[in-house]
Amino acid sequence: MMSADAVFRKLPKIVGHRGACGLAPENTLASIRKAAETGASFVEIDVTVTKDDVAVIQHDSDVRRCTDGSGPILLKTLEEVRKLDAGRWFAPEFAGERIPTLKEATDTLRSLDLGLNLEIKPTVGWQIPTAQQVAKELLADWPAKLPLLISSFAVECLIEVHRHIPALPLGYLTSAVPPDWQTRMADYGCASLHCERHYLTAADARAIKDAGYYLLVYTVNDPEEARRLLDWGADAIITDFPDRMFETLNL
Ligand code: G3P
Ligand code: CA
Repeated sequence: MMSADAVFRKLPKIVGHRGACGLAPENTLASIRKAAETGASFVEIDVTVTKDDVAVIQHDSDVRRCTDGSGPILLKTLEEVRKLDAGRWFAPEFAGERIPTLKEATDTLRSLDLGLNLEIKPTVGWQIPTAQQVAKELLADWPAKLPLLISSFAVECLIEVHRHIPALPLGYLTSAVPPDWQTRMADYGCASLHCERHYLTAADARAIKDAGYYLLVYTVNDPEEARRLLDWGADAIITDFPDRMFETLNL
């Protein structure tokens, strides 16, 4: 695994959200490829696990919103998950896209030389097994040359991943920046704070940067807003539309 310092040296200002989910169906291989086409060198995707313990790329705990099926992914085997169409809901041209496994996503990232912010999305109650499986698969398969940053709203996942892969940099993922953010960052061993754009103030951004942490802000789709947040000191903007950021901002 790449050291935390090396990962953050490689972190660009623009990170594609769920691949490039404004341009292709989120969390699919097509979405990762689309991000690369726009010029992105780093993407964020979400990972969870199936009933038979395979790490797969999916945001919701239920497959209803992003496939032609329904029901909790944790109650489906990989074979059942693979039958779902994960592209047609977005646009007919993406019909036939599948929910990728973490292994397939890793292979695609490797072939495109893309860095990854992997967000662990456990079903509630399944935080530790999800993190264990993700860590196991990353240890087996993650290419050493690619930067990898783990984040999660579930602190249990961060702690568990750290237990298995201590070298991996961790991102504290939150909506609002809590008043005790500094204690949490230290307690969880996080190097970066990832917060929702509505809640960040210029004073928070300054304090986070002054304390020596990296700051990522999601989900920013307006280039003017991205410019302001970068001026405040944000290290990276997570966006559904990396294309418009590259076209508009002089990065
Ligand atoms: O990782 C940043 C962002 O993706 C977190 O929120 O709901 O889009 O996964 P969500
Ligand atoms: Ca996410």
